[in-house]
Amino acid sequence: MSFVNMRRKLLLGNWKMNKLVSEAKEFAIASRPLAEKAKANNIDLGVSPTYLSLAAVKENASKDMIVAAQNVHFNDHGAFTGEISIPMLLELGITWCLIGHSERRAYDNETDEKCNLKIKALIANKMIPVYCVGETLDEFEAGKTKEVVSRQVKVGLKDLTKEDVKDLVVAYEPVWSIGTGKNASTEIAEDVCGYIRSVLKEMFGEMSEEIRILYGGSVKPENIKAYLSCPDIDGALVGGASLKQDSYEGLLTNIL
Ligand code: PGA
Repeated sequence: MSFVNMRRKLLLGNWKMNKLVSEAKEFAIASRPLAEKAKANNIDLGVSPTYLSLAAVKENASKDMIVAAQNVHFNDHGAFTGEISIPMLLELGITWCLIGHSERRAYDNETDEKCNLKIKALIANKMIPVYCVGETLDEFEAGKTKEVVSRQVKVGLKDLTKEDVKDLVVAYEPVWSIGTGKNASTEIAEDVCGYIRSVLKEMFGEMSEEIRILYGGSVKPENIKAYLSCPDIDGALVGGASLKQDSYEGLLTNIL
């Protein structure tokens, strides 16, 4: 029996360091009908605002809208100036979190080992990590894509059980395609996402068929459908095109 059709599509906007709280709130309110539309079509729809906007988005969006943090610390509390903990997110009703986005890997020394600590802490708290992996341009050009994503997946998800990864989401985002307009071809994206699923299969057996794998990197309303038509791509993680209401709506409308 194939599990392919059992994986619900997931469209997640990553707002990065954009939007004032007031703007995020306005977007959340304006997106209520979209969240209803997504639900009616069996699609999970969400956004990942800055920490400061999480409460406003959670309070003002449709209850069906997924609201994800962009990062979290792996300790519950303590002397970690500038950090935010899992209990703080849970207090706001936030149960999703991006981990290991390439910008955090590049600018904030987010290693695979650190991602692993964060993912384990999230899962221990019944939260859903969206674990981002992907190669740099140099690695891509050197033909090292699979070696890199395999290491990121194996180290990032080390010590987890099949049961632990049931709700996990993995996002494949080639660094050279993020914010550059140079999106990976659907062939490359499907090849790497299929490979990631094979690595997940080695680690977690048949549970790999339930794990959703997203593509991210210059996804736009015009190209999203092609990605989501690939058998191993279950959704998209979208930066730039998720910031404006009309293109966010276009992303959803084009995959209905
Ligand atoms: P982009 O960003 O859609 O602007 O390329 C994707 C991401 O960083 O998640």
